[in-house]
Amino acid sequence: MKLPFILASKFVAAETLSEALPKVQEINQKGLKVTLDLLGEYVSDRNVASEFAKTYVELVKQIGKTPNIDCNISIKLSMIGQKIDAQMATDHLFKLLEEAKKQDIFVRLDMEGSDITQSTLDILETVHPHYPQHVGTVLQAYLHRTAEDVQRMIELQARVRLCKGAYKEAEGVAYQQMPVIREKFLGHMQELITKGNYPGIATHDDILIQATQQFVQEQHISKDKFEFQMLYGIRPETQLEIAQNHNMRIYVPYGTEWLPYYSRRLRERKENVWFILSNMFKR
Ligand code: FDA
Repeated sequence: MKLPFILASKFVAAETLSEALPKVQEINQKGLKVTLDLLGEYVSDRNVASEFAKTYVELVKQIGKTPNIDCNISIKLSMIGQKIDAQMATDHLFKLLEEAKKQDIFVRLDMEGSDITQSTLDILETVHPHYPQHVGTVLQAYLHRTAEDVQRMIELQARVRLCKGAYKEAEGVAYQQMPVIREKFLGHMQELITKGNYPGIATHDDILIQATQQFVQEQHISKDKFEFQMLYGIRPETQLEIAQNHNMRIYVPYGTEWLPYYSRRLRERKENVWFILSNMFKR
């Protein structure tokens, strides 16, 4: 059964790019920056991966052509063939970054499950020396390995988005307790803000937001050194409040393949489920 898009529309901006771009402009007009994300996950067919790679190039061209827009993109390497053949995904990424450089648009490599963390960072290390201003990645505070990855990204001066991590991971690779994940997040946030390159602090968690605000104030760190990031549809009033004093970027997903993304958002917070259920019964 195909679920109607209306269910997902709290967290997903639109099903097509032509509908998503005006929403990006609306968000920009409120003083918020945007990251556009074409929804989709792991692809197992080489032809489908090549099609997604072409769609990403087209996306960057379209953003480049759109006036008055402050928007970069996030991509999933597994959509352009990472799990079939990492070299193929790297080749696709090189082509995308060539266009991104032409249009001066930054490309973020989203981080997926821990089975491909190393491969994602290896691909980043391959392309980053060629496009240092136009590519970066994501590190997840719940992974045991992240302290070392933070130091490596600082050495490279590669841009990092720091988040807690959204995938179900085993105890052997990831911390499971929220207080521990928060403590790790805070340590990485301090390292990245003081020594890294314009990190994105991606969270809706007041404890982490307030600790970041306090840290930058105490350390006299200027606002242009980092940005906060939040997801489309989550805590919109807080997004605007933070934007009054800090750079704030909204991650805006669009596309027809919204079900896995939408399911992760529901899993994260029971109130999200109630929101959807209550809307199901509204006309
Ligand atoms: P979390 O959902 O854990 O909430 C913690 C606390 O925040 C709550 O207890 C509450 O106090 C407060 N809170 C949260 N939502 C609220 C609400 N609606 N109203 C009031 N209070 C609320 N993950 C990944 O694995 N790879 C990736 O590439 C990315 N990329 C990414 C980009 C961006 C911009 C963001 C914001 C997040 C991601 N993530 C991600 C997802 C991330 O890993 C994580 O799963 C979610 O952000 C949820 O964790 P939070 O820290 O946001 O708060």
